[in-house]
Amino acid sequence: MADSGSESDSAAPSEPPMTPRRAAALLALIAAALPCCSGDDAAPDAQPAGWQDGVALSVAEDLDPSDGIVEITLDARVEGLEILPGRLTPAWTYNGTVPGPLIRGRVGDRLLVHFTNHLPEPTTIHWHGLRVPNAMDGVPGVTQAPVQPGESFTYDFVLQDAGTYWYHPHVNSAAQVGWGLYGALIVDDPAQPPFGDELVLLLSDMSLNDEGQFLGVDAGGDFGDLFGREGSALLVNGRVNPVLEVQSGRRQHWRVIDGARSRYFTIGFDGHAFTKIGGDGGLAATPVPVTAPILTPGERAELLVVPTGAPGTQVQLQWLPTERGYGSTFQRQPEDLFRVRFADTPTVAPGPEPQVSRAIAETPWSGAPEISMELTIDQGSMGLTMGINHIPFSEVVPFRATLGETQVWKLINNSDFAHPFHLHGTFFQVIDHNGKPVRPLAWRDTIDVPVDHTIRIAVRFDEHPGTWMFHCHILDHAKKGMMALVEVTDPAAATPSR
Ligand code: C2O
Ligand code: CU
Repeated sequence: MADSGSESDSAAPSEPPMTPRRAAALLALIAAALPCCSGDDAAPDAQPAGWQDGVALSVAEDLDPSDGIVEITLDARVEGLEILPGRLTPAWTYNGTVPGPLIRGRVGDRLLVHFTNHLPEPTTIHWHGLRVPNAMDGVPGVTQAPVQPGESFTYDFVLQDAGTYWYHPHVNSAAQVGWGLYGALIVDDPAQPPFGDELVLLLSDMSLNDEGQFLGVDAGGDFGDLFGREGSALLVNGRVNPVLEVQSGRRQHWRVIDGARSRYFTIGFDGHAFTKIGGDGGLAATPVPVTAPILTPGERAELLVVPTGAPGTQVQLQWLPTERGYGSTFQRQPEDLFRVRFADTPTVAPGPEPQVSRAIAETPWSGAPEISMELTIDQGSMGLTMGINHIPFSEVVPFRATLGETQVWKLINNSDFAHPFHLHGTFFQVIDHNGKPVRPLAWRDTIDVPVDHTIRIAVRFDEHPGTWMFHCHILDHAKKGMMALVEVTDPAAATPSR
């Protein structure tokens, strides 16, 4: 090979200077290659074998061996799964598992998904958080026709942004998501070294009776819709209160996804602190310390944590009630989420926390048009309806935007419940929360709008024209009408009518 960059020590074949960082990296490499530890009772600096088997996700098989293409099949079908011990639940699944298979690719990869619907009703797949061409967005009647039972559809798009995403149906979604249709999708940045031992945690719930059968989708009537239905069975990667076996003192990188129909997750891990390094659209500009991370439906969090405990003991992680409006925490107790069991080896030292930061330019928004979007709940003669500016989805008139334009959306919530607002097709930045600037900068697609709060977001419609949906991700609220559309037109593509 021609040696063009002899000045760059990373490419030079000759001996590079031994900087302290290089020496440390080299030592780490040597240590990792050794079969075991050198010292007498030194703990093995690795997770126990099969440490995450208790929460393992099935993984989508890549049918195309070539670099740059991830090609998979997804088959939606009903499958009897043991969610509660000794009971079979007729779960709605992708490829027979809840969650569906983990899909993983790298920035720039083309993802091809050959999807077949073997469910008893129409469905689609929406790629939550991914910037995809409009025709791939999975919104029935807006971006594609629903995929009928027995029919197929191929989703085909490029993975543009590193981060933690997920996929789920957009037809009858309060029901279909509640029955188990969701899966995780990770886009890796090949240049990014690992921050710790990675764990993907897709949190959800199911409304089951003692026999493991689903409660009616409309159980509880209007109250169920108002509160948003929270399932009785809390699920971590499809399991009830699973166990993770860990080496005490090793840093972990959790990619957490809230895939529940309506439930917020506040994660309590006794005696532990987290560092939140990112969320929806990958890493945030700077890390933030958090004690109990909160996720709304649809939202993701990237967290660093060092589980530490006496060898052989275990800690119960808990779901904690989240204040999300009228009566939402009344008489609610913490619930078991999953357990961390410490291996029978002494605690190791995690080493300094990696400095995780990302250069994110603030979207210039001053002077941009400001559009008010009130998240509304109305009790009228037609019964309970929800909407955007009092307009339910059944009467929607699309908002408008031009490709390349930035708009400021003012999300107003004077209703009795919090609403996790989600926009398809592009990321946004949060400007302020009740007038207070929000930092660190981050790319988001989902933002909680608490009761009596106003949040302004800067939305840049920079890449994909088309009609995009936005809605409350409490799927019972979306079903009641809290959804709307924005039509993004490309002036360059428009043919002048003359
Ligand atoms: Cu996960 Cu329309 O959303
Ligand atoms: Cu809502």
